[in-house]
Amino acid sequence: MKARKRVITALDYKSMDEVKNLVTLLGDEIEYYKAGLEIFLNTGGEVVDYLHSLNKKVFLDLKFHDINNTTKMACEFAARKGVFIFNIHASCGMETMSENTKMLKDMNSKSLCIAVTVLTSMTEKKMQETFMTNVSLNDMVMNMAELTGKSGLHGVVCSALEAAQVKEKCGSDFVTVCPGVRPAWSVSDDQKRIMTPAEAVKNGADYLVIGRPITKADDPRKAAVRILEEIEAVL
Ligand code: C5P
Repeated sequence: MKARKRVITALDYKSMDEVKNLVTLLGDEIEYYKAGLEIFLNTGGEVVDYLHSLNKKVFLDLKFHDINNTTKMACEFAARKGVFIFNIHASCGMETMSENTKMLKDMNSKSLCIAVTVLTSMTEKKMQETFMTNVSLNDMVMNMAELTGKSGLHGVVCSALEAAQVKEKCGSDFVTVCPGVRPAWSVSDDQKRIMTPAEAVKNGADYLVIGRPITKADDPRKAAVRILEEIEAVL
């Protein structure tokens, strides 16, 4: 099933027990998982080794943001772990992103390093006030995506609503990893700018990060299968 190569389930948990429960329940249906700060720190990194031991692929969502040297050492760690995807903030700057591109090539790494453009928790107003700018949120996101593309990194985290525009600007091979996906049958939770899995894929989302519609479903495996079938139908 091609759809299995497009869905990343978010492990927004604090303990290995919760992770093991879900991963066991989902079985072969889900191959890709996202481990963020919460689960990575609470398990002392064990979550990554556990998923790898089951041949699952990991999106290590730690959003590195620091000076050049420190960011590179963090990226080197992620690449050595052999995670499938990891990320840094594009606001680290071109120099940092370009140096990481080079380092990953030198390491012969297969990991995809993608950038966070503007955190989705930022509204346009908040962003403008914080950065003392009149630039629109969309222009800021697209500029960050463009810089990421020019640096040679592999793609960005973006809303599925932005995916088509990102691909237009950065090329069809530029990877788009999109949270904020909600099937028509599930609740939107705190996600504001949402798309259904089918719409997201049609709009250029390569990978869909889906948490609560699967993790909080009465039957997570059934929910995952339903989502996979919805995506399969538009591939
Ligand atoms: O439960 P839900 O499907 O909303 O989970 C989406 C996941 O993607 C969460 O782990 C959330 O932190 C993450 N995420 C997001 N928006 C971003 C980046 C990451 O929702 N811009």
